[in-house]
Amino acid sequence: MRQKIVAGNWKMNNDLNQGLELAEAIINLQHEIPEDVHVIMAPPFIHLADIHRKVKDTRLKISAQNCAEEEKGAFTGEVSASMVRSTGSEYVIIGHSERRAYYNETDDVILKKINLALKNDLYPIVCCGEKLEQRENGQYFNVVREQLENTIFKLSSEEFSKVILAYEPVWAIGTGKTATPEEAQEMHQFIRKLVKDNFSDNAAEDTSILYGGSCKPSNSTELFKQDDIDGGLIGGASLKSKDFVELTKTFS
Ligand code: PGA
Repeated sequence: MRQKIVAGNWKMNNDLNQGLELAEAIINLQHEIPEDVHVIMAPPFIHLADIHRKVKDTRLKISAQNCAEEEKGAFTGEVSASMVRSTGSEYVIIGHSERRAYYNETDDVILKKINLALKNDLYPIVCCGEKLEQRENGQYFNVVREQLENTIFKLSSEEFSKVILAYEPVWAIGTGKTATPEEAQEMHQFIRKLVKDNFSDNAAEDTSILYGGSCKPSNSTELFKQDDIDGGLIGGASLKSKDFVELTKTFS
């Protein structure tokens, strides 16, 4: 079912104590979160189990920011999807543009991760989005279509029903430059149409598509108001409890 979602991607910020404090501050404000908004926090791996203990009796959910592309074994430094699930996390972000850019994650790797997430009962939050030059040279629809064709459109409809999508134009991430509500809506509508063509009307109607890229309380009302925008994947503004909770109140 299509849901309103605000997901906070903490990235590589906050040591364990700071992370627990931030989670606690968000929990203390949870009474302000509208009932129909689903809130997910994605801290670094090492926080997951401890934060899960704090949120388990609340409406807040947790997500990892990544998982390994292999199931288990001699992969020093990696964290598997099953390990993520064992912490109490229900979600995992896959294919973030920072993973694509700095860790050379290809669509093939991303598809392997999505499959492992699904196999381990995690909801994948799958990111797509174009770079600045691709926006400027008019390639953005093709880029996003190809990212989706190489990954989620290879899933069965049943598998796809567990997927949350996030459109994150790379030029808007951490730059303070947001896509205009019209630019974001245009792409979200395009993505929903692709979902319809690849799966069904129902799948298109039920898929939550989040916007990400310098989304904050001062611009989220206009973004979340758009027909095809179902919420946000939030970086910078998710590190401040007040801003993060404020964002959940900006759906119309
Ligand atoms: P930002 O990050 O909100 O800091 O731009 C968004 C993201 O990368 O998910």
